[in-house]
Amino acid sequence: MCGIVGILGTHEVAPTLVEALRRLEYRGYDSAGIATLNDGRLDRRRAVGKLVNLSDLLVHEPLAGKAGIGHTRWATHGAPNLSNTHPHRSGPVAVVHNGIIENYRDLRAELAEKGLNHETDTDTETVALLTHYHLEQGMPPVDAARATLARLEGAYALLFLFDGEPDLMIAARKGSPLAIGHGDGEMYVGSDAIALASLTDRITYLDEGDVAVVTRDSLWITDADGKTVERDVKTIRIGNTRIDKAGHKHFMAKEITEQPAVIGDALGHYLSADGRDVILPGGDGLDFTQIDRMTMVACGTAYYACLTAKYWFEQLARLPVEVDIASEFRYREPPIPPRGVALFVSQSGETADTLAALRYCAGKAERIVSVVNVDESSIARESDLALPIHAGVEIGVASTKAFTCQLTVLLLLAIKAAKARGTLSEDAVADLLSKLRGLPATINIALEMDDDFKKAARRLAEADNALFLGRGLMYPLALEGALKLKEISYIHAEAYASGELKHGPIALIDKRMPVVVMAPRDALFDKTVSNMQEVMARDGKVILITDRRGAEAADGGIWRLLTLPEVDPVLSPILYAIPAQLLAYHTAVAKGTDVDQPRNLAKSVTVE
Ligand code: F6R
Repeated sequence: MCGIVGILGTHEVAPTLVEALRRLEYRGYDSAGIATLNDGRLDRRRAVGKLVNLSDLLVHEPLAGKAGIGHTRWATHGAPNLSNTHPHRSGPVAVVHNGIIENYRDLRAELAEKGLNHETDTDTETVALLTHYHLEQGMPPVDAARATLARLEGAYALLFLFDGEPDLMIAARKGSPLAIGHGDGEMYVGSDAIALASLTDRITYLDEGDVAVVTRDSLWITDADGKTVERDVKTIRIGNTRIDKAGHKHFMAKEITEQPAVIGDALGHYLSADGRDVILPGGDGLDFTQIDRMTMVACGTAYYACLTAKYWFEQLARLPVEVDIASEFRYREPPIPPRGVALFVSQSGETADTLAALRYCAGKAERIVSVVNVDESSIARESDLALPIHAGVEIGVASTKAFTCQLTVLLLLAIKAAKARGTLSEDAVADLLSKLRGLPATINIALEMDDDFKKAARRLAEADNALFLGRGLMYPLALEGALKLKEISYIHAEAYASGELKHGPIALIDKRMPVVVMAPRDALFDKTVSNMQEVMARDGKVILITDRRGAEAADGGIWRLLTLPEVDPVLSPILYAIPAQLLAYHTAVAKGTDVDQPRNLAKSVTVE
């Protein structure tokens, strides 16, 4: 949701700003721009579309200067055109912003009365204009920026740069993350530490409400009350590895194939030395015998991970679970049972709705637990217990390896709960864990079926619509399969619990409707086969994803049959995520869409 970066450097900063923006492009790719101070004067270059357009522009129109700020945009207010592209400038101040200024209309009207008119449709220009106004009132830059911040409502990560101030950058955080990087005689600011990973591994994270006055050799932070505060400098471990596709055509393809390794890694972090138990980080601070209920909240793919986990917690640990979409949960004001755990799942750890839901539960739930991929994210830091999924950096906007690693950690947690609550014996736990250890090898077998998925996807790519069906543990997987397909191939896809088909959606079935059925040969298989028959009786084109026994038991008339290796039904969601991902991936490739950066999407959704 927009990426921002700033550098007070000792060398020319334009190439480094662009490189840092490249690491942030997953946050938005509608347009990009940079502003630098050259001989103390602000200048900027901006381009619509992907970052490559900005780098091309800079080849022809280079930008000199050793201090600069940059932005990659996911449009919220105003079309993705040049005028709305950041940095925004008003007189002697340039600003980049991630977030939404909710009261910008009021501020606009107020500024217009003073004769200060906007030239763009953005909320961000208001910040530049207001700061310009404060400077004209005679305030020094730091006071002018503070006076502006005091007027803003909404969410922001903001960076200010001023004419004639080559050793000053002001950074402010409220609702959107910001990391400050410490270099040798240089200072950096970025939307996340990953943006700065090639520059430094020494990072200070700003807290909510913090304002940082940054120079090349100093950092002065004040908190939300205006008090000077010290924030830790942490050494982070991201390294400089992330923008490499490792020979794959897309990051998504690379991330799909990484799954056996990262799931294995996640297991390695949670399994006891003898492999018979699950150990949580920071000791066993979560006593499942004292818990009556779980509330799980997330968005998108992470929400489907929660829906899957509901089946695990309820079936294995007999623990009632309620799952909700964060944007609904946060405004519904649901009662939180006193002996309840509130659990939040988020790859980025910064999703605005999930974070707001977490804050709603803080102080109400017995414990706040999160399952995250970014250790230093807001959601992780505001949880009593943060469980890392160890997926590594995920660049493809469509989540793949983060989803299966979320599932893996949630399953481990459900198994731990089952053991603590006595609903699974020690031997049953050890048996499940040993099967889980074997799962990466089974996923490798599924990955080797890539050509089969590619062939099925070629047919799927001809469709305008698709349905996904699943029962039990396969129902959330059907939802995830439909989401993956629509977000990267732009084919309209919906998912239903197989049993729901006859309550309405069956009206959609005709010979042009592909129906992806996800059904391993488990206790519910025969029921799903009946639903599949109902589809085929109406000429629907069934793509059945099943296992060997399922393939043998399924009747004829199936359009495409994809046969996966057999696994314990409990583990099937993690395995069946692979065909869901590969079908979507190959369909998108066949259609020629932008797989890693699908239109209108961004990876880290830090606005409501
Ligand atoms: C879909 C996808 C999104 C995210 C959702 C939540 O492929 O990636 O649906 O799952 O935006 O994001 P996080 O997990 O960062 O909270």
